[in-house]
Amino acid sequence: MQKQIGIGLIGCGGIALANHVPGIGLCKDARITALCDADQAVLGRAVQQTGVSVATTRYEELLALDSVDAVIVATPNLFHAPIALAAVKSGKHVLCEKPIAMSRDEASAMCDAAKHAGVRHMTAFTYRFVPAMRYMAHLISTGAIGVPFHFRAQRFQDWGTRSVGWRQVASMAGSGELGDMLSHRIDFAHLLMGEMTEVVASLRRFIDVRDGQVSDLDDWVSILGSFKNGATGVFESSKLVTGGGEGGRSRDLCEVNGSEGSLIYELGMPFHIRIGKKGGSGMDSVPVPREFLSVPGSNRDPYATDPLVGFRYDQDVEFIQAILEQRDCKPSFVDGVRAQAVMDAAIESDRLKQWVKIPSC
Ligand SMILES: NC(=O)c1ccc[n+]([C@@H]2O[C@H](COP(=O)([O-])OP(=O)(O)OC[C@H]3O[C@@H](n4cnc5c(N)ncnc54)[C@H](O)[C@@H]3O)[C@@H](O)[C@H]2O)c1
Repeated sequence: MQKQIGIGLIGCGGIALANHVPGIGLCKDARITALCDADQAVLGRAVQQTGVSVATTRYEELLALDSVDAVIVATPNLFHAPIALAAVKSGKHVLCEKPIAMSRDEASAMCDAAKHAGVRHMTAFTYRFVPAMRYMAHLISTGAIGVPFHFRAQRFQDWGTRSVGWRQVASMAGSGELGDMLSHRIDFAHLLMGEMTEVVASLRRFIDVRDGQVSDLDDWVSILGSFKNGATGVFESSKLVTGGGEGGRSRDLCEVNGSEGSLIYELGMPFHIRIGKKGGSGMDSVPVPREFLSVPGSNRDPYATDPLVGFRYDQDVEFIQAILEQRDCKPSFVDGVRAQAVMDAAIESDRLKQWVKIPSC
């Protein structure tokens, strides 16, 4: 029998415990063998929750372990690059949380290093795994709506003046709403439409103090963009949609209009997609076929978990499957670099108040 792939969790905070621990738990060929968190109290809670006793506050110690074949990096954004680069140097496969870096240059360095070392590399663009998004990508790539004209994405949540922790600190996060929420939707655009060529963007901060702590990052962002295939893109994301709710109960919409029809994805309806056909009378809600409800190789019963939660585990299944099958992860660091290039261009555009070209990745 093949040895199980040993996983080291680096950063054992919110997302590690919510998404990655249950995600790896679904993989019969992998198990968590070591934990690392810089905060001793968080580490202690993770030890209790997972039952994994090998635990350290220093990631270098975790990377030195033979029992660790691959790592999941789930720290604040500032630490992604140094940890991922060290992991790659130690020959470990890396699944890194989004945004994978603080800049495109940093992301590129991570991607180049991982390719050079021959390890698997993955960006945690979790929402690619929503069944409706997987089906939407399939429909567009098989020509169901003809030639795509327009891409549209909206992520609206009501955070008010609540603290978002390190996410409101530029030196830790790099960008605010742009990297936190819109990075996933930039990835949708790449998945559905291909490369972007240029953007003009605006970033705004309305709240300077959140729960008594200074916030120096954007809580609203909007991007207008062009794609290599000639299509247009409009993106908007905000933490200040008062009364709009949060999570799956708030607006997360992605729409593509093509020459033969239109498609609408909404996170709140992960098992349905809205389809409008040329000459039809409007948009109809259509169930996502069974084969798109989970990723190939997953033994997850999509009906057994909350539909707004279960898909998140599939990204860990994809990571493990890619390691086993010795193929590229989808999405890989290449996708992380692409998203970062758009984010950098958006920040630059906001600074210069003009259109900015996106370098090809
Ligand atoms: N893919 C998604 O849907 C999704 C959702 C939420 C968060 N995220 C991303 O996940 C990452 C973590 O977010 P979170 O919400 O879990 O944050 P968090 O603050 O809850 O957890 C981060 C943990 O990292 C630890 N840490 C900080 N520096 C460290 C270091 N040098 N070594 C080891 N541990 C260190 C902190 O002590 C903390 O416990 C971020 O990049 C965030 O953008 C992704």
